[in-house]
Amino acid sequence: MKFHIFVLLFCYISIANGEDPDSICNSCSCSTSDNAQVMNINCVNRKLQHVGGYWDVKNETKFVKISFAGNDMPTLEAMPQTDAVVEIVLTKCNIRYLRPSLFADTPNVKFVDLSHNDLPAEEISSDKFRGPYNSTFYEPIALEHLDLSYNKIHTLLNKVFEHMPNLKILNLEGNDFKVLDIQTQLALSSIRGLQDLNLANNELTEMIVGAIDAHENLTHLDLSRNLLDFVPPSLAHIGKSLEVLNVDGNPLIEFASETFLGLGNITELSANNLTMLKYINANTFAAMPKLKKLSLSDNFLLVDIDREAFGINQTLEEFYLNNNELYRLDYKLLPWSQLHVFQFKENPLECSCDLYNITTQLSADIMREEDGPYCEDPRTGRSIRVFYLKSDICSYKRELSSHIDYIQHHFSMVRVALVILCVTVLIAGILAVILGFVRYKKYRRESNYPYASQIAYNPIATTPKY
Ligand SMILES: *[C@@H]1O[C@H](CO)[C@@H](O)[C@H](O)[C@H]1NC(C)=O
Ligand SMILES: *[C@@H]1O[C@H](CO)[C@@H](O)[C@H](O)[C@H]1NC(C)=O
Ligand SMILES: *[C@@H]1O[C@H](CO)[C@@H](O)[C@H](O)[C@H]1NC(C)=O
Ligand SMILES: *[C@@H]1O[C@H](CO)[C@@H](O)[C@H](O)[C@H]1NC(C)=O
Ligand SMILES: *[C@@H]1O[C@H](CO)[C@@H](O)[C@H](O)[C@H]1NC(C)=O
Ligand SMILES: *[C@@H]1O[C@H](CO)[C@@H](O)[C@H](O)[C@H]1NC(C)=O
Ligand SMILES: *[C@@H]1O[C@H](CO)[C@@H](O)[C@H](O)[C@H]1NC(C)=O
Repeated sequence: MKFHIFVLLFCYISIANGEDPDSICNSCSCSTSDNAQVMNINCVNRKLQHVGGYWDVKNETKFVKISFAGNDMPTLEAMPQTDAVVEIVLTKCNIRYLRPSLFADTPNVKFVDLSHNDLPAEEISSDKFRGPYNSTFYEPIALEHLDLSYNKIHTLLNKVFEHMPNLKILNLEGNDFKVLDIQTQLALSSIRGLQDLNLANNELTEMIVGAIDAHENLTHLDLSRNLLDFVPPSLAHIGKSLEVLNVDGNPLIEFASETFLGLGNITELSANNLTMLKYINANTFAAMPKLKKLSLSDNFLLVDIDREAFGINQTLEEFYLNNNELYRLDYKLLPWSQLHVFQFKENPLECSCDLYNITTQLSADIMREEDGPYCEDPRTGRSIRVFYLKSDICSYKRELSSHIDYIQHHFSMVRVALVILCVTVLIAGILAVILGFVRYKKYRRESNYPYASQIAYNPIATTPKY
């Protein structure tokens, strides 16, 4: 009996509140804030198969944030009508098919997250994203941020973005791109205002010029976890705009002076987890004078950073060097006092005067860190905290063995090859000189033999007879 009264009461309250039986707020939780201007609709994990009839958006609502994360909607249907600005999350909904004109009734949609679904390339077509029909053409939608990460897309159709002239942020992480084919290049180039492109976790072996050279405002590019073995030279085409670059988790072989050439406006570089990188050579970072944040962690083969890797007067603010194979850091590398953040834990560092000198320059904030890095004291073989080093390390003379280590580490294959080349050239040169000398001697001997030469060069003898 009590229960019945409760149900009746509940129905009564619902009706009194003017709730529509078709309203999405019956199956999801709705709330409003900022004088009902912002409406939040939470439909996360509700076993829904449809985006629902009616979103119950009040007249005064200007902004609708709605999440359908974790439902089961193999076919995504068109969104119900509202003129409010919409942000919609449709991640992890097993979406396999898209109905046409998804957002024709929500033309002010700003953000769409379709990540972690099963969408194949052919479902991502221009008709799915067209706006309301206006007697002769489809109007655009307001979309600025489209997240298509973790689907099954290997190519893009060339007109796919034609109804999204305001698109600025595109996420294609975790799809099946191996090459950016000509259609994909045309599709990407058509997004004139693109500012942020994420192609992480695909299988790209190169970044083709045609995919990026049309973008004058592209500031953020994520190429992490692909199969790049060098930083693509094509990036120089967006060198004016590019500010933040991520190349984590690629098999990049070497960093040298030409690696980042033409990328003079980069302020943040992330180069973690590079499985092949051993050396960072002179002038690598000098090409990026505005670089402020550099992350170089988890590069488990990285043994050395050339003392001239940075340009003259180059200053960093954040520097991450954790978990590499670095055995030394040169005091002359950087103006250490400028750093706000400096982490260099988990390296097989040898305690040295360089390290001590670095600690004398670092800001007090960095030095106060409790779990600071350690180095091995060559005098005792014991591990001690770098920040506890004293000036006495500077009077310690390194033994020869550690010098040999150092030389061995420092000799990259390139240098060895150069030496071999020089030796070869030298031997070839000596052989050439000896050979030349022998020939010269022979020639002299022959030309000194007057009788023979007279006959050989007698002009009368060679004049043709008529
Ligand atoms: C909402 O707008 C509609 C049409 O503009 C109008 O008919 C209705 O009275 C409005 N409702 C409220 C509560 O303001
Ligand atoms: C169609 O577009 C034209 C030009 O953009 C505009 O003036 C007109 O109001 C639109 N018509 C409708 C029905 O939206
Ligand atoms: C790039 O940004 C500038 C400044 O915000 C803007 O004037 C220009 O129209 C943008 N270019 C494109 C192609 O969107
Ligand atoms: C950096 O950006 C500014 C302003 O966008 C531009 O004028 C300059 O040429 C860029 N520098 C480089 C090295 O591309
Ligand atoms: C580093 O990359 C490898 C292979 O690319 C991956 O398995 C691993 O999870 C990555 N580690 C980190 C810390 O990102
Ligand atoms: C480096 O800075 C000093 C002092 O600020 C200046 O005199 C010098 O010209 C700068 N060098 C370069 C290469 O910019
Ligand atoms: C360390 O600093 C001292 C004093 O500034 C200097 O004399 C010495 O050459 C520096 N040593 C190294 C290895 O940088």
